[in-house]
Amino acid sequence: MSLGHLMHGKRHPDTPGVTIGTPHAYEIFGSLCFVGLRRRAFTRLAELSGAQAGDRVLDVGCGTGYLTRHMAAQVGRDGAVTGVDPSSPVLAYARRRKLRPGSAPCTYKEGIAESLDLPDASFDTVVTSLMLHHLPEELRAAALGEMCRVLRPGGRLLVVEFRPPKSAVGRHLVHGGAGHAMAHNRVDLLDGLIRDAGFEVRGGGDVRPWLTYVQAVRPAVAGDSVS
Ligand SMILES: C[S@@+](CC[C@H](N)C(=O)[O-])C[C@H]1O[C@@H](n2cnc3c(N)ncnc32)[C@H](O)[C@@H]1O
Repeated sequence: MSLGHLMHGKRHPDTPGVTIGTPHAYEIFGSLCFVGLRRRAFTRLAELSGAQAGDRVLDVGCGTGYLTRHMAAQVGRDGAVTGVDPSSPVLAYARRRKLRPGSAPCTYKEGIAESLDLPDASFDTVVTSLMLHHLPEELRAAALGEMCRVLRPGGRLLVVEFRPPKSAVGRHLVHGGAGHAMAHNRVDLLDGLIRDAGFEVRGGGDVRPWLTYVQAVRPAVAGDSVS
């Protein structure tokens, strides 16, 4: 049992995904793990998403809404941001958080990544951070397929994941603190999974201290231009 297991919530009847049940503990754990760099990292991720002022944004597996709120600041008051997560305690926490002045309104919905209850092509930008490793491997393709479906042609995807340390000692420490899924997260498989879901991969890299990201686009239909 790792420290991370203590934050896990009740299993949602519609998904085997591992949920977060204790939002306050998650926030404290998150802040400590980011060693003072959390705000800077997530501000950078919001920029890397490529979301523009006025965009409709979806955050899949939004948890306590930390990235959701950064996306709301990124797209501004003319945008709209939706966060989806199966855990009602994290959604309740996210709804109570204040937004920065000038941010887009945020709406939080209970739901699961592998079967999103959202219309086709209804978002300009989809982001997902630290969620895929909470799903069993066999559901990750379905989740990315759903992100492609709800994104408009030409829309952008940003997938963010935990980058495990290269050293065995480092992975051992992560195993004890956060569990197997993070310590052995196969981020090398992300590009292939994202392509197989129908996206064009456009870029990727690392954000300090522990994150890796992939930027992708849902191909535009013939005759449309991708901005
Ligand atoms: C490590 S947290 C990340 C939360 C947030 N995105 C962040 O970056 O802080 C993983 C989140 O994935 C959610 N989750 C688990 N299974 C899921 C599923 N099937 N669909 C969507 N989200 C899921 C959990 O409830 C949890 O809030």
